Amino acid sequence: MNSLRIVIFFFGANWLLTGAAIHGLAQSNGEIPHYLPDARYCLQCHSEPFKSAQEFGVLERVQLTEWNAWESKDKHTTAYEQLSMDRGQRMGELLGQDVLAPETGCIQCHTSNVNETLWSEECFRDGVNIAQAKGVACQTCHGPAEHWIGLHDKPAFRDMSPADREALGFANMEDPVVRAEKCLSCHVGNAELGRVITHEMYAAGHPPLSGFEMEAFADKMPRHWRYSHEKPNNQGFKFDRTRAVLVGSVVALRTAIDLAAADGENWPELARLECYSCHHELQTPSWRQEKFEEPAFGRPRLELGCLPLVRVAVLIAEGPSGAEQFDSLISDSRALFKENMFADPLEIASLRTAIDQWSEPIERQLVEMPLDNERVSEILDQLITIAAKETHDYDTARQLAGAITVIADELSRSGSQVSGLENLLQQLQRFNERGFALASTEDKRVENKYHQQLSYRARFKPRVFSALMASLKEDLGK
Ligand code: HEC
Ligand code: HEC
Ligand code: HEC
Ligand code: HEC
Ligand code: HEC
Repeated sequence: MNSLRIVIFFFGANWLLTGAAIHGLAQSNGEIPHYLPDARYCLQCHSEPFKSAQEFGVLERVQLTEWNAWESKDKHTTAYEQLSMDRGQRMGELLGQDVLAPETGCIQCHTSNVNETLWSEECFRDGVNIAQAKGVACQTCHGPAEHWIGLHDKPAFRDMSPADREALGFANMEDPVVRAEKCLSCHVGNAELGRVITHEMYAAGHPPLSGFEMEAFADKMPRHWRYSHEKPNNQGFKFDRTRAVLVGSVVALRTAIDLAAADGENWPELARLECYSCHHELQTPSWRQEKFEEPAFGRPRLELGCLPLVRVAVLIAEGPSGAEQFDSLISDSRALFKENMFADPLEIASLRTAIDQWSEPIERQLVEMPLDNERVSEILDQLITIAAKETHDYDTARQLAGAITVIADELSRSGSQVSGLENLLQQLQRFNERGFALASTEDKRVENKYHQQLSYRARFKPRVFSALMASLKEDLGK
């Protein structure tokens, strides 16, 4: 049966080997991978399972309907189109720039990456790049397919190491660090890939990027993959999602400081600072006074992601001594603004080195550490406690709520006997919908929820959020 499988798989993709790989090799000069137009390739197989897929154990690994999930619901399908619609065009007018021109910097995030790879000839029809118009499509996340497309559907690919796959251009999206780096390269930014949002873009009307929690956003995308416990060959509960939440928070911190350090001559770039350092009405009393933060009160702060979530991740990975080190790094990040209102870029660069070095072993630890019901229940408890006790701004609260929802949901699916979980999930779901207004999974446009989101941002009451969290904590009997 093994040889039969090889024959069928091989013939299944044979035309691609000649059509794509050979064409590509002729063009690539050996080094640079080319993109392939998505419609002709991924669609072929990833829209309907082939006849013997079940028999060959393929459906235990993939559903082969990923294309449909992406095409019908995924927000990323319209990413390129959005640039030519009302908000995109208006932004172009205000900026005095063509939003489709590479030098404006929009298409780096709104379509398959243009800097990382070249487009192959096949992407063009009558001079128009038809692959680009597909928005953030398959290969943007899974890697340019030229060198793996002819191999990846064959049994031998299953046994290849992640490193060997990556050498072919296939991104190891199963690894939560790789996945987080990929999502965050656009949802926070990545200067090396040319994915850089500026305060001018925000001022011209771009939705704020802050507040990205990877797993909550994956559900809203909505995701087209299954976690280990959702697959038919369920090999036990691995808590992939809880792990991804924790890893994602640390990678977000690292990505944010990397981006700030890369601004160089453009510093101070206001888009790297917490928006609410400047954008708020004067109030007294004010919740910002409760958030009194030494050593630089009344100064702007770097936007570094969801710090309470990172703190819990570090506590879980390294215990109290790790958390102390984390607290001192964050305190250093604030201190930079004491001497100089907008901090010195050289000092930001050294903070970046310190955070990158600090985060590497923690990420590894989080990827490798065992997780069981008890541990995850403890993580949930710590998160709700922090959410209830401290004062959080909108973006931090949104990420905390997203993380708590994902982890409580996973705990409930694992069959844990924690009473009050169902009630917690119901209440959170309602709050996430009404309070944080992410686009619904049925609606491809972010725009449709944008106004609601802005008004919620403006009206956000940290005390209402922490009171809700406190009551949920009580319901859980904690
Ligand atoms: C000739 C059919 C075919 C084409 C074309 C194809 N795929 Fe696949 N793909 C498969 C099959 C079959 C599998 C399952 C392989 C297995 O069971 O090990 C798969 C698996 C995958 C996986 C999971 C691999 C793993 O081991 O984790 C990804 C991701 C993927 N395909 C993405 C793509 C993308 C992106 C494209 C377009 C550039 C594409 N595929 C084009 C047939 C195809
Ligand atoms: C190449 C850049 C890029 C990458 C990589 C990327 N995104 Fe996006 N994402 C975008 C853009 C651009 C939009 C807005 C698209 C639109 O509205 O048409 C978006 C929108 C979204 C939305 C809708 C946001 C809202 O307010 O409702 C979600 C959810 C999302 N992405 C999740 C993810 C996740 C999860 C990943 C990683 C698995 C990811 N994205 C990777 C660029 C990217
Ligand atoms: C925004 C990023 C993104 C885009 C765009 C994207 N994927 Fe994925 N895809 C992921 C992530 C993340 C996973 C989960 C990886 C894992 O756990 O193996 C995944 C998993 C998969 C899998 C494995 C499914 C499973 O059940 O484990 C296949 C097959 C796949 N994608 C195909 C595609 C195809 C085909 C397209 C284009 C229609 C596409 N993807 C577009 C991010 C993306
Ligand atoms: C250091 C202070 C500072 C920070 C931090 C800051 N901004 Fe601004 N922002 C300004 C100033 C000053 C203006 C110009 C105000 C005017 O034109 O009246 C402005 C204008 C704007 C505008 C257009 C005017 C409006 O209110 O609609 C938007 C939108 C905006 N900023 C979004 C953001 C976002 C999103 C962030 C966070 C990522 C951010 N800003 C961070 C100072 C800041
Ligand atoms: C660093 C990556 C990045 C850059 C650069 C970028 N965008 Fe975006 N854009 C995103 C992401 C991510 C979203 C989704 C935000 C969310 O809701 O979380 C988005 C959302 C949008 C939306 C709302 C889409 C909808 O569905 O309603 C518009 C319009 C838009 N961007 C236009 C632009 C324009 C115009 C530029 C250039 C001037 C630009 N973007 C530059 C990443 C980027």
